[in-house]
Amino acid sequence: MISIIGAGKVGSAAAFDILRYRLGDVVLVDIAEDLAKGEALDMMQAAPAIEFDGKIKGTNDYSQIRGSEVVIVIAGLGRKPGMTRIELMNKNAGIIKTVVREVAKYAPDCKLMIVTNPVDIMTYIAYKTSGFPRNRVFGMGNILDTLRFRSYIAQELNVSREDVRALVIGEHGDTMVPLVQYASVSGIPITQLLSKQQIRKIVQQTVTSGSEVIKLKGATTYAPAAVIAIMTDAILRARNRVIGASTILQGEYGLEDISIGVPVILGKKGIEKIIQLKLNPQTQKQLQKSAQTIKQATNQLTT
Ligand code: NAI
Repeated sequence: MISIIGAGKVGSAAAFDILRYRLGDVVLVDIAEDLAKGEALDMMQAAPAIEFDGKIKGTNDYSQIRGSEVVIVIAGLGRKPGMTRIELMNKNAGIIKTVVREVAKYAPDCKLMIVTNPVDIMTYIAYKTSGFPRNRVFGMGNILDTLRFRSYIAQELNVSREDVRALVIGEHGDTMVPLVQYASVSGIPITQLLSKQQIRKIVQQTVTSGSEVIKLKGATTYAPAAVIAIMTDAILRARNRVIGASTILQGEYGLEDISIGVPVILGKKGIEKIIQLKLNPQTQKQLQKSAQTIKQATNQLTT
């Protein structure tokens, strides 16, 4: 069973993608009870078309998530005009604490995936609030950045997106670190296929791609929903996928007591392994800067 807390734009789109993968029954929880019920009903009516025979329920009652193997938290606010990032962080921090307490009560053995932004900080709060071991609490961020990085590389080269492999680490935000040296097209390093200028443009596009969508349509939906489904599939089908996820570090990469995006193996137990890359000095510095940005914001938490 998979539970999704927050049946808004991303939560409902992710639920539908998860149903398409036929990963199990889905429970949608939202304080807006009618919204959760309505989304579930709509999806139930689509189920024959996507050949989903399981259950899909919408509710505001947390006891319904009992026994969930995966719980995905996408409850919270997006940034409203005039609202600072710090204000948003503090509002969402309060929501995450309330939600995670309920999750820990009713689904104490679950793998807990955090999506609410700012995701690295929310993952850290969820880790502290839940009391879960660190392998069972992680955030969705870098895998989405990577998807965007891959899309722009493929577009520039006019090749299949499927053949592009890449990785982004660091904050899911402005200081993210797209790893150019690890990006390839069917094993060919992109540095052999693209000029420095083209690569600079792609990196820039990757960093600003999320805000560009938000500027145009108010929120991002399909890309985050798609990667949430990929991560859920990796866990429930024990796929051991190698992806970037916001992960609690305890000394890895020289970082302590922080959740930040690094490559991991994601499988049945959640984070099966943190992969420690050898970074060149420049990239290591960028990661340090990214970590500093997260820590500075965390210090401004008031809740
Ligand atoms: P939305 O506003 O459409 O949905 C949020 C839902 O959360 C609403 O239905 C609301 O009723 C519910 N909610 C609020 N407080 C709650 C509580 N205490 N308990 C249960 N439900 C509660 O927002 P959207 O677009 O779905 O985004 C949700 C969050 O996900 C935002 O923080 C957004 O920034 C984040 N996000 C993160 C991404 C990532 O890459 N990590 C990508 C896209 C969105």
